[in-house]
Amino acid sequence: MPSSRARRLSGDDYCSSSHASDADDELGETSEDGTDGTGTDINDDLSLGRGTSPAPSLNPSLYSYRSSVDGGILLKDLYGRVVNSTSQTYLLPADVLEHSRLDMQHEMLKKMRNGLFLAANDVRRALAPREDPEPQPAVLDIGSGSGSWMVDMAKMFPHAEIVGIDLVPANLNHSAPLNCRFECDDVNLGLLHYKGAFDVVHVSCVAQGIASYRKMLDEITEVLRPGGVFLAVDGDMHLWDENQQLIPSRAEEEPGFTWTSRLFYAMRDAMRARGPGLDEYVQIYDWLQEQGPVWESTGRERMLIPLGPWKTDMTEKEKYISELMQQNFIRMADSFRPLLLSYGFFEETVERWTTNAKDEVKNIRHKLYIRFQFEWAVKARKAS
Ligand SMILES: C[S@@+](CC[C@H](N)C(=O)[O-])C[C@H]1O[C@@H](n2cnc3c(N)ncnc32)[C@H](O)[C@@H]1O
Repeated sequence: MPSSRARRLSGDDYCSSSHASDADDELGETSEDGTDGTGTDINDDLSLGRGTSPAPSLNPSLYSYRSSVDGGILLKDLYGRVVNSTSQTYLLPADVLEHSRLDMQHEMLKKMRNGLFLAANDVRRALAPREDPEPQPAVLDIGSGSGSWMVDMAKMFPHAEIVGIDLVPANLNHSAPLNCRFECDDVNLGLLHYKGAFDVVHVSCVAQGIASYRKMLDEITEVLRPGGVFLAVDGDMHLWDENQQLIPSRAEEEPGFTWTSRLFYAMRDAMRARGPGLDEYVQIYDWLQEQGPVWESTGRERMLIPLGPWKTDMTEKEKYISELMQQNFIRMADSFRPLLLSYGFFEETVERWTTNAKDEVKNIRHKLYIRFQFEWAVKARKAS
């Protein structure tokens, strides 16, 4: 059982001074305290109406967030953005700006899936209302971010309990449905206190914060009730060319060089230095097969999304998705900044990469794709 649900680490914990990188010449030095001293007041952010937990926890030992008390423990300022202060692994921002990007990404994923989830029949069956004294169905959203998927699920399944866990509170600017509950927790500390408690477990775009995806997957098999559904999605952090070929890392003077790709490769270096999640999530489908009869069915779908509406033969829907991807990338480029600077890249270098990559994507200077990968699995209804 996790003993501490909200640990405070000093800024120093985030400033490593030596890294393995293919771009060491571009590495700068991080400041002593891990901040740039620009001082965004995190309490200002908190006043924007972060949600509190409306319902008691499934487990009384769990920690429920209270904005008035806990904001300063869970969040800190880093290079002008607000980030979580408890995880060594995850370092994208946790502020209103980032959560509005996540809302846009949620809209994009909804369009890509034609709804809130794939494996729709399995999910609807798992979440069908139950007769007393059976407990009503429950959904766990791991790394719930801005909470938008949870809120949509809570509206679609008003009889179900929707629980989100995240390192940081969601920046809700309106009250969440009463069947939504937010917990602040680090999934790397373990999930087994939720054994047999959920009918759907959803993990969207969280891989880079996961210390061991395989361990988490093993725990999810315990957390799900028989017949329950695991749903995962993540973006690739790779770029694909117009012929759908993976773009390799290239030097600035090489033909085919793009700033967008340079920025992605730098991000990959910086993320890898913090944890293996980036490389692990592509193995999810293989691990589901390895886990064998614990699942009665499994599936995977991969989608290449144009980074901007550059294709000539797009439907209205494809065009809309590609425009959302373009906007999402432009905002994501700024979200990378604290992580890249903490890794040790020079401020001028990060600025140059970011500005050029945003310009390339905004003006569609290259025909690029980003890949998303969706997996699902249904837990066996009979003991295997
Ligand atoms: C890129 S966001 C995705 C949010 C949401 N799932 C979505 O798809 O819009 C990743 C979220 O996972 C959370 N996260 C990352 N690592 C985590 C961990 N170890 N435990 C709990 N939450 C984590 C982050 O705080 C962040 O809110």
